[in-house]
Amino acid sequence: MMLAIMKNFLFYTSLTLSRSWTAYGFANPLSCSGTCTNAHDPSLIQRDSDGTHFRFSTGGKIAIHSAPSAQGPWTYKGAAIPACSSIQLAGNCDVWAPDVSKVGDIYYLYYSVSSFGSQNSAIGVATSATFDSGSWTDHGSTGVQSDSSKNYNAIDGNLVVVDDKHYLNFGSFWADIFQVEMSSPPNKMASGATRTQLAFNGTGSQALEGAYMFQQGSFYYLFFSSGKCCGFDASRPAPGEEYKIMVCRSESATGGFVAKNGTPCTENGGTLVLGTHDFVYGPGGQGVYDDFNLGPILYYHYVDTRIGFADGQKQFGINKIDFSSGWPVV
Ligand SMILES: *[C@@H]1O[C@H](CO)[C@@H](O)[C@H](O)[C@H]1NC(C)=O
Repeated sequence: MMLAIMKNFLFYTSLTLSRSWTAYGFANPLSCSGTCTNAHDPSLIQRDSDGTHFRFSTGGKIAIHSAPSAQGPWTYKGAAIPACSSIQLAGNCDVWAPDVSKVGDIYYLYYSVSSFGSQNSAIGVATSATFDSGSWTDHGSTGVQSDSSKNYNAIDGNLVVVDDKHYLNFGSFWADIFQVEMSSPPNKMASGATRTQLAFNGTGSQALEGAYMFQQGSFYYLFFSSGKCCGFDASRPAPGEEYKIMVCRSESATGGFVAKNGTPCTENGGTLVLGTHDFVYGPGGQGVYDDFNLGPILYYHYVDTRIGFADGQKQFGINKIDFSSGWPVV
């Protein structure tokens, strides 16, 4: 017991000392005001006309919040998918993991229909011209679907537009993160499209999910969440096995992603961007956004250990992110 206390003391002491000069000295999240809770799997986007920020998140049939700045004050604006999705799978009345982007003049919202831990999943899409609750038209399944015969799970869609082509990154657990080409406009998977694996961690629980691709300079950065996401109030995994944000990069949006040490992302590779630190526990469900006011920011949900570990208590986090070294640093 005494030994354990000593070890902990030494551990924390060295952690505190090393924090000031190692690469793992993560900055605390920027301040957030208004409704900063209810922020699971956030997707952040600004309206071009006036710079208003919109935040979409899991729960409440895809809750919409808006704010004059990424830091708030955030106000609840209603649900994006208030009716059940037309996808005939369990979970279609409470869809997950929104990803919102603009293609031409239209906003596309990709969502997941699934039940926790199952592979009976599909990615659906809804469109709007305004972001407002009540303005979203559900188009049902994109054709990106899975079942127990597949080595992927069709959840956590993320659209990326490269030249005139559209790709949807998706997936988690099983064989982790995949990509598929979409038609134009990107309502459906392109006919005859094949799925390419982008990331795979064959060690441990094989839990990579929540892909988000961001282009900066000559690279495409594939951000993803690795580890246990949820239910931390009921049980917490061994330290380091909780959610954390990782990245790989490539000069192509469609493959060849590697970690900073050169390990392919398809062979367990990944470089840590943000993990548990200070009062932040299990950050993930992230995205990256080139904010009109703040410049490039990493946004995510996290447990604030001073508030509580339940999924409904997860907070919206934002940090400035610096790509100047070629690798994103928080
Ligand atoms: C792969 O899984 C192991 C075991 O869970 C974990 O420690 C490691 O950080 C993971 N690597 C990546 C790139 O996610």
